[in-house]
Amino acid sequence: MISTTKSIILEAKGVSKSFGAMTAVNEVNFALKEHEVVAILGSNGAGKTTFFNLLTGLFAPSQGSIHYKGEEITSYSPAQRVAKGITRSFQLTSTFDTLSVIDNLVLAYYRSVNKGSLWSLFTTKTRSLQNSPAILQALETFELLEIQNRTVQSLSLGEKRRLEIAMAITASPEVLLLDEPLAGLAETEIKGVLSVLRKQFGKQTILIVEHKISHIQDFAERLVVMHEGRIIAEGGYEECMQHPEVRRSYWQIDDSISETSTGGGWGAHVLA
Ligand SMILES: Nc1ncnc2c1ncn2[C@@H]1O[C@H](COP(=O)(O)OP(=O)(O)OP(=O)(O)O)[C@@H](O)[C@H]1O
Ligand SMILES: [Mg+2]
Repeated sequence: MISTTKSIILEAKGVSKSFGAMTAVNEVNFALKEHEVVAILGSNGAGKTTFFNLLTGLFAPSQGSIHYKGEEITSYSPAQRVAKGITRSFQLTSTFDTLSVIDNLVLAYYRSVNKGSLWSLFTTKTRSLQNSPAILQALETFELLEIQNRTVQSLSLGEKRRLEIAMAITASPEVLLLDEPLAGLAETEIKGVLSVLRKQFGKQTILIVEHKISHIQDFAERLVVMHEGRIIAEGGYEECMQHPEVRRSYWQIDDSISETSTGGGWGAHVLA
């Protein structure tokens, strides 16, 4: 259960983002609490990625503000937000495909402890870094031990995704933001990625954007459902599934006409 004593770590207050005449995010209020695991759901074009980009600083909101631990960070760049502890996988943890898994982890770790600079790495013995407790821990937690010497280009998409998440977490972020980390993965790979992410529960604040409810219905402790740029429902799985607007938007069930059971429309849009 969500504890009410947890403090808010990342907050959006009335944020909107328009692209010309199109309002992709429309007056969204959202608060992420410390160590919470929250999933943002919604069909194609709902505004999930745009909202995500407002949180990471890739886009500036057309109106509203973003706050981190009570401090307004609306004008902060993505790099400034990372320095504060808000890390987005993929964007800032791109892999070096010709290097090995362990060397990629070493680079991510080194970059985080040396505030972004890779220059002094040339004068450092990478062997000693490879044996550092943080690297060994990451290899173990993210089930990368057996593939540590393989080059990234030889990995499956699932293995690469686990490495990318490991690289993001090696930088010890306070908030980890993931935009569709399961996209393109096979079912077994999805299980693998979710199982390593579960190991972070209770120690890591995680916000995950996901298209398919089936993937994260047992994963996130709170769901946020977006539609046409707005948050239309928020809460536990059952609560969101039964919400009249979610039924209308996703399942296309008109409660005034039909008592059709759940599954159809939601499945068509989000489970598919
Ligand atoms: N850079 C952009 N320029 C113009 N329009 C954009 C831009 N980015 C997003 N949009 C529009 O904003 C709306 C929301 O898009 P967004 O990518 O945030 O949706 P999404 O929920 O992430 O969708 P998906 O599930 O397909 O990833 C869409 O109509 C999209 O076409
Ligand atoms: Mg998206």
